[in-house]
Amino acid sequence: MTRLGIASIGLAALAALVYVYYTEIKPVVIFGLRSDYAHAIPFQPVPAGLDSLRAESCGTCHREIYEEWKSSMHAQAYDDPFFQAYWKKDNNIWVCLNCHTPLENQQPTLIKEIPRGRVEKAVQEPNPHYDPAYQREAITCAACHVRDGVILGPFDDSAAPHPTKFDPNFRTAQLCSRCHNVVSGPAQFYNVGPCGTYAEYEGRYFMKEKGFICQSCHMPEVERPVATGGPIRPGRRHVWRGGHDPEMIKQAVAVQVQADPQAPKPGEQARFTLTLINAGAGHKIPTGDPDRHFTVEFLVQDGTGRELARQSETMGRWILWQPAIVELYDNRLLPLASREYHFTYRLPKSAEEPAGLILKTRVRYHILTDSQHEMLERKYGLTGKDPYEFTVYERDLPLTGDLKTALSRPEPEARLACAAPGAEAAGGQATIRKGAS
Ligand code: HEC
Ligand code: HEC
Ligand code: HEC
Ligand code: HEC
Ligand code: HEC
Repeated sequence: MTRLGIASIGLAALAALVYVYYTEIKPVVIFGLRSDYAHAIPFQPVPAGLDSLRAESCGTCHREIYEEWKSSMHAQAYDDPFFQAYWKKDNNIWVCLNCHTPLENQQPTLIKEIPRGRVEKAVQEPNPHYDPAYQREAITCAACHVRDGVILGPFDDSAAPHPTKFDPNFRTAQLCSRCHNVVSGPAQFYNVGPCGTYAEYEGRYFMKEKGFICQSCHMPEVERPVATGGPIRPGRRHVWRGGHDPEMIKQAVAVQVQADPQAPKPGEQARFTLTLINAGAGHKIPTGDPDRHFTVEFLVQDGTGRELARQSETMGRWILWQPAIVELYDNRLLPLASREYHFTYRLPKSAEEPAGLILKTRVRYHILTDSQHEMLERKYGLTGKDPYEFTVYERDLPLTGDLKTALSRPEPEARLACAAPGAEAAGGQATIRKGAS
C-alpha cells in the first residue's frame, strides 16, 4: 500500500475514534446522570382540600414561608440570568430542568427513554400537563413537599386543611442531596462533581462533631405559627442564603493578617501573612458551581491612591474542559482548614516619603470570572445586571505609620447564625475562633 493510502486509513480511523468518543463516551453535559435526577419528579395532582399547587396559593396560609422562599435562589433557579445563559450555551438540554424546575408539571416534554444514558439522544414527547407559569416557580414548594396528593413535612401532629404525612427526611441532609450531589460522568475526572456540595460535607467536622445538617446553616430555626392562626411551633426559615449573599459568605470566612517584623523600620523588608480560614461552612469554600472562586489581594497605595504594588492569588478549582474534563488542581478549603498567603514589601527609606503609604488587604468572592461574564453577555444573551463579585474582607494597614498598633486591633470573628441539636451554641450563635481545629 502507498504511504498516502496508509495515511488516509490512519486519518479515517482517528476521525472515527474522535466521533465515537464524543457521541458515545464523553457526556454532552459537564456531569453524569445519577438516578435521583435522571428523571423529573413524576406528575403531581393537587392535594385534596387545595385549589392549586402554586406557591402563591400555599402562601395564602403559609405567608411568611412563602415570602422567604420567594426571596431565595430556589425560587429563581429558572429565571436566574446566569442559569439562562449557561442553559442556552448547553442548547437548552432537558436534563438541567430536573433540578432547576424539577416537577414533571413544570417541564415541556416527557422523557420516555435515555438510550445508553446519552441525554442528547433521549426520546421525548410533548407533555400535555406542562404549565409554563409553574415552570418559572423553579424549585417550588411542591418539589420538596408534595408526593402522591399528600403534603409531606417534619411534623406528625398537624391539623391541616390538606392531607399531611410525617417524613423524617425533612430533618436530614437527604432532602438536599437529591440536587446538591451532582456526580461526574464517564471521561470526566472531577474529584467531586460540579455541584457536589453534599460529598464535601459528608463525614466532615460540622456533620461529625456538631451534628449539623444543611438546614442548620441554610434554614435558620424559628418559633412561629406555621400556618395563619395555627399554634406556635419550632420550624425553619426558608431562605437558603448562599453564594449570592455577601453576608452569608462573610459567615464562612475568618481572616487574620500579621506582619514580620511587627514594627518594620524604614527601608526594611516586611513579610505580611494573610490567613484565610473556612470557619463557618459545612463544606468546601467555595462550593457548588465550579466557576466560584476567591481572590486574595495585597495592594500598596500612596496617599494619592496611586498603586505601587499588587499581588493577587486565587482559591478555587482549575479544570481542563476539553478534550476530557480533568480537574487539574483544587485548592479550596475544607471545613476548618486554613491557608496562608504571603506578600513581601520593602518599606520606603524615609518614614515621610512617599506620604500616607498603605497596604490594602482584600478577600473577594466571585460567582464567575470577568472573562466568562463577558463571554456569556456576548454569546449567550446574559442581560441581567446582577453583581457577580463581592468584597468579603477588607483591611487597610499604614506602612509609613504605626503598623504595630494597627495590627494589634482584633480581627472580626466569624459568626455562625445557626444552631443544631447538641451544638455548643450560646444564644443560637456558635462562635468559631481563628485557628480552631
Ligand atoms: C387553607 C390554608 C392552607 C393552604 C392553602 C395550605 N396549607 Fe399547608 N397547612 C395549613 C395548616 C393549618 C397546617 C397545620 C399547621 C399546624 O398544625 O401547625 C398546614 C401544614 C403544612 C405543612 C406541615 C405538614 C407536616 O405535618 O409536617 C406543610 C409542609 C404544608 N402545610 C405545606 C403546604 C403546601 C406546600 C401548600 C401548597 C401546595 C399548602 N401547605 C397549602 C394550611 C394550609
Ligand atoms: C430540586 C433540586 C434542589 C433541592 C431538593 C435543593 N436544592 Fe438548593 N439549589 C438548587 C438549585 C438548582 C440551586 C441554584 C439556583 C440558582 O442559583 O439558579 C440551588 C441553590 C442553593 C443554595 C445557594 C443559594 C445562593 O445564594 O447561591 C443553597 C444554600 C441551597 N440551594 C441549599 C439547599 C438546601 C439546604 C437544601 C435542602 C433543604 C436544598 N438546597 C435542596 C436545587 C435544589
Ligand atoms: C456549618 C454551616 C453550614 C453547613 C452545615 C452547610 N453549609 Fe452550605 N454554606 C455555608 C456558608 C457559610 C456558605 C457561604 C460560603 C460560600 O458560598 O462559599 C455556604 C454556601 C453554600 C452554597 C452556595 C454555593 C455558591 O457559591 O453558590 C450551597 C449551594 C450550599 N452551601 C449548600 C449546602 C448543602 C447542600 C449543605 C449540606 C450538605 C450545606 N450547604 C451545609 C454554611 C453551611
Ligand atoms: C428545597 C426544599 C423545600 C422547599 C422548596 C420548600 N420547603 Fe418547606 N420545608 C423544607 C424543610 C427541609 C422543612 C423542615 C424544616 C424543619 O426542620 O422544621 C420544611 C418545613 C416546612 C413547613 C413546616 C414548618 C417548618 O418550618 O418546619 C411548612 C409549613 C413548609 N415547609 C411550607 C413550605 C411552603 C409553603 C413552601 C413554598 C413557598 C416550601 N415549604 C418550600 C424544605 C422545603
Ligand atoms: C443534579 C441537579 C442539577 C442539574 C441536573 C443541573 N444543575 Fe445547575 N445547579 C444545581 C445546584 C445544586 C446549583 C447550586 C450550586 C451553587 O450555588 O453553587 C446549580 C447552579 C447552577 C448555576 C449557577 C447559577 C448562578 O446563579 O450562578 C448554573 C449557571 C447552572 N446551575 C446551570 C445548569 C445547567 C446549564 C445545567 C444543565 C446542563 C444544570 N445546571 C443542571 C443543580 C443542578
